[in-house]
Amino acid sequence: MFTKIKLFDSDIYMGSDCLSQLRNVIKKLNPSRVFIILDRNSKRYCLNHLVSVCKEIKQPYYFELKQGENEKSLENCQKIFNYLIKQNADRKSLIINLGGGVISDFGGFVSSVFKRGIKFVNIPTTLMAQIDASIGGKVGVNLNIHKNQIGCFNLPHSVFINYEFIKTISFDNLNASFSEILKYGLIYDQKLWQELDSTLLTCGDLSDLIEKCVRIKLEIVKNDYYDNNVRRILNFGHTISHAIESMYLYKGLIISHGDALAVGLICETYLSHVEFGFSRQKLNHIVDKISSFFNFKKIETLDHKPIIKFIKNDKKSSIGSNNFTLIKNIGSSVINCNVPNAKIVDALNYFKEKCQV
Ligand SMILES: NC(=O)c1ccc[n+]([C@@H]2O[C@H](COP(=O)([O-])OP(=O)(O)OC[C@H]3O[C@@H](n4cnc5c(N)ncnc54)[C@H](O)[C@@H]3O)[C@@H](O)[C@H]2O)c1
Repeated sequence: MFTKIKLFDSDIYMGSDCLSQLRNVIKKLNPSRVFIILDRNSKRYCLNHLVSVCKEIKQPYYFELKQGENEKSLENCQKIFNYLIKQNADRKSLIINLGGGVISDFGGFVSSVFKRGIKFVNIPTTLMAQIDASIGGKVGVNLNIHKNQIGCFNLPHSVFINYEFIKTISFDNLNASFSEILKYGLIYDQKLWQELDSTLLTCGDLSDLIEKCVRIKLEIVKNDYYDNNVRRILNFGHTISHAIESMYLYKGLIISHGDALAVGLICETYLSHVEFGFSRQKLNHIVDKISSFFNFKKIETLDHKPIIKFIKNDKKSSIGSNNFTLIKNIGSSVINCNVPNAKIVDALNYFKEKCQV
């Protein structure tokens, strides 16, 4: 059983046996060579299954990264370009990105620029990648400590969302990805939020939720692929979370995208409450729900100075102003909000007082 949805020319297959369709895709594309980009965990937990169900991938070439955000680097781009040249990759080669968001961002970018672009397929193996990173066509790498500064828009030929793959994801990582699911409800779908609010999100069968999130993202991206308008609502929580991730990279510390996003969502819900005046009670209710998945005590002190500095360098900011997406209410977002620094400091203090004491 699988479902197929289209985003422009890109096919998205979802379901526990969707990989059967990869066989047809490979037969049809008839690539000169297949390169699989993966990291040590997607190799350990997912590779055997992939090659056993898809015999059409004959003698693949592998490029393995370690794991984590640090791997999404220009240095690794250079390494893989050299490797692809050495292995005689040509424009008829196919790249398969098997892994989480780090792999689909990195592999998608590499595929987009190598020889001016070769086809790629995403097989997301984390919840974050299945509901968000592997679809929508934003691909890129970090520039040293600056998140996602080098990249482009380019859709995968196809995406295969196999729910079985996320069964080996750690509890913390799965929980962290719930922040992205909660975000979809907050920015776009009041009904989804109410559903999430009234049920216990657990690590059980997430297939329905994954499909709902994928459909929401596709609906938004179809209307504004190049992120000039409505797609920006997906950035809710991300202005502060990207700044936190950059600060962590700078300090040589590790934080997952999902954990950083949870902090970003809380701070930006606070800013939304201040800017658009919904009640303190509603603010606290949303924040309590988000907080229920996280242990925020492990988060390092959030020093506002570097965070504000990184916000100025965010791709969305322009000289002299920052760029936030906020919510007017649950399910209703406002893009392009310029927020004074003092309010950002207040939001970080609110987070510390509410979630870290
Ligand atoms: N392009 C986009 O639209 C978009 C959207 C959201 C997030 N992102 C990016 O995605 C990244 C975060 O994604 P992520 O949370 O998947 O991070 P990730 O790719 O680092 O994966 C998280 C961890 O899970 C491990 N892992 C992968 N598959 C596994 C499996 N099946 N079983 C056990 N462990 C497994 C990885 O090795 C890693 O340690 C960030 O770089 C973020 O910027 C991009």
